[in-house]
Amino acid sequence: MSKNSLTVTDNRNGKSYEIPIENETIRAIDLRQMKVADEDFGLMTYDPAFINTASCKSKITFIDGDQGILEYRGIPIEQLAEKSTYLETAHLLITGELPNVNQLKDWTNHVTHHTYVHENVKKFMDGFHHDAHPMGMLVSAMAALSTFYPHAKNIHDPEERRMTIYRIIGKISTLAAFAYRHSLGMPYVYPDNDLSYSGNFLNMLFRMAEPKYQPNPVLEHALDVLFILHADHEQNCSTSAMRSIGSSHVDPYSAMAGAISALYGPLHGGANEAVLKMLQEIGSKDKIPDFIKKVKAGEGKLMGFGHRVYKNYDPRAKIIKKTADQVFEVTGHNPLLEIALELEKIALEDEYFIKRKLYPNVDFYSGLIYQAMRFPVSMFPVLFAIPRAAGWMAQWEEMITDADQKIARPRQIYLGHRQRDYVPIGKRN
Ligand code: ACO
Repeated sequence: MSKNSLTVTDNRNGKSYEIPIENETIRAIDLRQMKVADEDFGLMTYDPAFINTASCKSKITFIDGDQGILEYRGIPIEQLAEKSTYLETAHLLITGELPNVNQLKDWTNHVTHHTYVHENVKKFMDGFHHDAHPMGMLVSAMAALSTFYPHAKNIHDPEERRMTIYRIIGKISTLAAFAYRHSLGMPYVYPDNDLSYSGNFLNMLFRMAEPKYQPNPVLEHALDVLFILHADHEQNCSTSAMRSIGSSHVDPYSAMAGAISALYGPLHGGANEAVLKMLQEIGSKDKIPDFIKKVKAGEGKLMGFGHRVYKNYDPRAKIIKKTADQVFEVTGHNPLLEIALELEKIALEDEYFIKRKLYPNVDFYSGLIYQAMRFPVSMFPVLFAIPRAAGWMAQWEEMITDADQKIARPRQIYLGHRQRDYVPIGKRN
């Protein structure tokens, strides 16, 4: 008879233990009972970078990396990208359900009416150097918002959490747009509540002297689709940062500043920026074989390829490829696209990439769209952070209301010196 448990024999003393298996997982703490002597700490697991450790139970986002499946609350990403909007998807992620007509109206109304920021925000934006990276500005501005909303510290009050969710989703696009306008030395554009979430964002970025900004509907839709695709991706580096920082019960603005920082890195949300630089450096199709040779020799990576979870084509990359065609019809062709397509073709036929199951990820094509839409490269990770705010808040809410969760505090294997005497500076070598 099969049993849902694991029998482990400790060969150091011949003792056997039965460890329960639940959801195809064992609890690491069940190993602690395995000791040779009473004073032993007990066995731990060693898992740098959490390759095989689940840090939470979640009902938000499902990924099957081998098959290339991504679902938010059970709904395939392809359906959401085709039929939903970013704000509706944000509601789905945060509440668990698609809204009905009235709920969507309410939700949109609340988020839209929290897009304005305190006038003082403009003052500290002005303090940044003209060439400050917008991601640095966004990190700092998000942290600063915590000082405007001290009540957000009441994280156990569901009403306070709801208000913070509206504020963060509403204001992050305003902060991002202000960062962009500051870098150009242009006046800030206030939100236009008549426009959609992505339409208003384009307004705050690109409006000039016209009395009312009318976003191009194709570009507005494309940006909305990109926002849907980037809204959540379960326990990635920045989401783990959000949960980990939030587990100290700090206010969510401060936790989110940490999550944005994690996203900034070139191995995570900064990869789309790195992809574009890489394509520009390659410069022409005939240089691709040489570039691939260097990657295979360990001299750099093929940015926008590979993923910790996907060992198949990233489903988001497929949707982005289609969206790119629609955008290029409006903006004109991006010459880097040809290099990207050829690079993908060569890599997907190359033994090195096949063996390691390296496929294009979400960042491989998104930068080309952003560039065609006139975004500077430094804004790319910011465009990732804006929609991810919905995922971060959904994950944070789930963590705060999960009775299993405590302050995140991993263990270490200490391999350093012990009990050495302090040597006065004059007697050291
Ligand atoms: N180019 C070349 N080789 C690669 C690449 C790549 N992009 N990605 C992985 N490899 C190789 C590794 O060198 C390693 O080879 P080895 O077995 O001979 O040592 C093997 O493939 C396995 O790679 P790991 O680094 O162990 O995979 P890991 O899961 O730790 O890393 C990551 C995943 C960080 C995404 C990695 O694939 C990478 O650096 N890719 C490029 C950056 C990028 O596009 N990041 C965006 C990810 S998506 C996102 O965050 C939204």
